[in-house]
Amino acid sequence: MPFLFRPSFSREDRDGMAAVLESGMVATGQKSHEFERAIAATIGMEAAVATNSGTSAMSLALDVLGIGTGDEVITPSLTCIGVVNAIARSGAIPVFADIDPLTLCLDPASVRDAASTKTRAIVPVHYGGHPYDTAGMRAVAREIGATIVGDLAHALGATVGGEPVGRFADLSLLSFHATKIITTGEGGMLAGPAEIIERARLDTRHGVSDDLPGSEAEFAGSRWISPGLKIGMSDIQAALGLTQFAGLEARLAARRRVAESYTAAFAEHPHLVTPAEQPGSLSSWHFYTLRVSADAFGPDAAAFIAGVHQRGGAAARQFYPAHLMPLFSGDATRAAVPLTVTERESFLSMSLPVYPGIPEADVRAVIDAVLQTAESLTR
Ligand SMILES: Cc1ncc(COP(=O)(O)O)c(C=O)c1O
Repeated sequence: MPFLFRPSFSREDRDGMAAVLESGMVATGQKSHEFERAIAATIGMEAAVATNSGTSAMSLALDVLGIGTGDEVITPSLTCIGVVNAIARSGAIPVFADIDPLTLCLDPASVRDAASTKTRAIVPVHYGGHPYDTAGMRAVAREIGATIVGDLAHALGATVGGEPVGRFADLSLLSFHATKIITTGEGGMLAGPAEIIERARLDTRHGVSDDLPGSEAEFAGSRWISPGLKIGMSDIQAALGLTQFAGLEARLAARRRVAESYTAAFAEHPHLVTPAEQPGSLSSWHFYTLRVSADAFGPDAAAFIAGVHQRGGAAARQFYPAHLMPLFSGDATRAAVPLTVTERESFLSMSLPVYPGIPEADVRAVIDAVLQTAESLTR
């Protein structure tokens, strides 16, 4: 069966990491800072701090915004559970809002309906690399007085109106987990205004500052100014991030080519729904989310996914809605709005493999398996 995701590594990746090993400077250092500057510039933000995961970057965002007990944070239910966990661990309540049926991204109108006087932040995901409605989200955030922490875990390289998507958020988080557009094995980043990022940086390294402005001048040495964590990125990982980043444009183009092959094969099918970029938006095609018609196949694509596997293709449900998990269905959240679109579309969706370097024969096998399954299962 074809792989669903597969990272790819070049000679430059290996050489870059080997050079760091030889230098002996393997902890957080200059390579990490170089990687931070490259990513911040690419997503349209002033500064960034590298972390050991996207989930850590989310926790860091909540810490630096002072969000915790008594606060609420609005998030899609169709997201990585790490984001929801980070909100819950901060003491704040994750409140789920519904998604747009076209992009599967958080719907600004539903965010407005889900908001309360306790809402401090919104965490919209560019789902699968397709930008959410950035203008609509900005307007709602302003109206309810919330900070936007854009989740760019899937969206490195995505744009709206020619601008990188980070530009439309107050803070942005990224992930460099093995399945992402570029990878450092595990890893993440928080990006935003330099002043906020420098404060966040302290909490990635024990809350220690060597040069905090305003601290006692006579005190020589490190200053422990907060009970920080140790959640930075090593320079070995950052070296990998930098060489992977050098190939970003080629990686994005390769994903787009595979996505176009699927769309060419499925777009005319009466019972398959292909993902489309919205006017003015460019996707990074982290996922290729194919949806099936409920009229033809029923409300749950599970049998369809199994059929694709049986016929030698690869497909998988991506996220399970967080609000349907026991952990986040009770008092851990405030059920603010109906999540009708989330519940319907998540069960009709599947991800197809779209990673750079996927063999042409695998793309063909996936297409054939999907079309044969559709033919055999149509009611
Ligand atoms: C939308 C989204 N946000 C955040 C994360 C968290 O990233 P990490 O796995 O690096 O903690 C992921 C990871 O899969 C994700 O898909």
